[in-house]
Amino acid sequence: MHKKKLNILITAGGTREYIDPVRFISNASSGRMGYALARAALKAGHRVTLITAPTALKPPAGATVVPVETSAEMFAAVKAAFDRCDGLLMTAAVSDYRPAKTSTHKLKKHNTELVLHLKPTPDILAWAGRHKKHGQRICGFALEDRDIFANAEQKLRRKKLDMVVANPPGAIGAERSTLHIKTRDDNWQTFENFSKTRSAAALLRHFEKLFDTQ
Ligand code: CTP
Repeated sequence: MHKKKLNILITAGGTREYIDPVRFISNASSGRMGYALARAALKAGHRVTLITAPTALKPPAGATVVPVETSAEMFAAVKAAFDRCDGLLMTAAVSDYRPAKTSTHKLKKHNTELVLHLKPTPDILAWAGRHKKHGQRICGFALEDRDIFANAEQKLRRKKLDMVVANPPGAIGAERSTLHIKTRDDNWQTFENFSKTRSAAALLRHFEKLFDTQ
């Protein structure tokens, strides 16, 4: 068990970017990794705030839960909680794009092609990387289908992360997966075909170690 009790901020689930009041763009994230990390952190005695996009999961008892839907709501919730946290684990699958316009009325069907204009969403993790204070640690997730190590390591540097977790696209929504983790000073470590509960415990141990070197 880690000697220091930490305030850990975790984001989870896939954001919803609304096209109209009843339709949205989202992704296959189940939220399992974030929820498993929240449970592991609570079990280790840390305080947990879980900012969660909609999932089918039951939030762990003992966590402060902040439900959100869109990337904009998630960004606002992270900004509001970031100063008070020691560490951020950004497991959420934040949509990289959102509709340029959200229609206030339900779109009607027409027998012609429909073109949706999308615009980029702000990168929440990169914002956290730019705003982290002395002693704060942040961890990002990278879903990569090519050059997994090089791309994930680039994310570690570009977003000023302290730790990056790389996984293949098959990991999204799956119960078991292979994860690779890297901190700034250590080499890659692989957890082969781990359940999300087991990988969460292993990830948390590595994350906790980052607070031993202040
Ligand atoms: N992330 C974020 N805000 C976004 C998009 C992603 O905070 N708008 C976070 C995710 O929670 C995750 C990491 O950034 O921790 C994943 O980044 P990813 O979307 O894979 O990387 P990109 O920088 O968008 O690069 P690419 O899509 O080109 O792989």
